[in-house]
Amino acid sequence: MPHIVHAIGHLKVNVIDPGAVIRDATEILGLHVTRRDAGQTWLSSNGREAELVLLHSEENSTHTIGLEALTAEAVREAEARIEASGCHVLSSAPSLECMAAGVTFATPEGLRFEIHTPIRDRLYGRRHVTTGVGANRMDHINLITPDPAATRSQLEAIGGMRLAERLVDDSLSWMYGGNRQHHILGLVKGKVGLHHYSFEFLEFNQYLRLGDTLDRFGKELLWGPGRHRPGDNTYAYYTDASGAMIECASAMALIADDANFTPKVITNLQRPGNVREMNVWGTPAPLEWRTHHFPFAAVG
Ligand SMILES: [Fe+2]
Repeated sequence: MPHIVHAIGHLKVNVIDPGAVIRDATEILGLHVTRRDAGQTWLSSNGREAELVLLHSEENSTHTIGLEALTAEAVREAEARIEASGCHVLSSAPSLECMAAGVTFATPEGLRFEIHTPIRDRLYGRRHVTTGVGANRMDHINLITPDPAATRSQLEAIGGMRLAERLVDDSLSWMYGGNRQHHILGLVKGKVGLHHYSFEFLEFNQYLRLGDTLDRFGKELLWGPGRHRPGDNTYAYYTDASGAMIECASAMALIADDANFTPKVITNLQRPGNVREMNVWGTPAPLEWRTHHFPFAAVG
């Protein structure tokens, strides 16, 4: 089946204190505000009109994971498959003015996704003045689901996404889309929620600036920098004012030859003996990272 989902489209998060989250996003990550009104704030790291959308709310929680499809026809094709996969269409209209078409659906596990056409983008408006580190783009999102196998089969049936790699007990798995990045979605097994979202760095030196910038704000790295084995990307993690965990990732592997690709299954789950199977440089995940949970808003 051809890929319908191509890449991460955007992420919508409910936040109690937009000012504090905007400060972290702009002054640490280096995003810029593209729109702000009483109800929501749009932020972007590049020329796209929105990558991170903050909904000013009474709770801190994940609202919707936006997945990009390349055309309106692909969005309608995905929509036609939603009910048969056991999921439920919530809206057939795009959720933001900066996209031409979208369909929002809920899964029985309590996740909410929107498959939508690319966010409007200013090709040569990629750079902006910032004292933050200056991320390049939102590149992947790790969700938490009580039934990873069910979530994967829905995403495969609706969006043509494919498994890239998994732990044999399904505690972690990774899926890829049309852009062939090893994963645009990670799936963590547990109570429904968000584990982390990730922005891409283009240079390793940005991790140094990230650590120093966090220090200026009295904050610290939660884990990293290091290099994951699944995806082969470098990483560092911290949490923002809403309690969400943010990864800065770089140089993820591509699954270019997906016709001949076989998903890898990691069978050695024994810690710390499997540390290099999970992390190339041998730096184990701290308990804080392994148990991190940011809730998902109740899905109607
Ligand atoms: Fe990640």
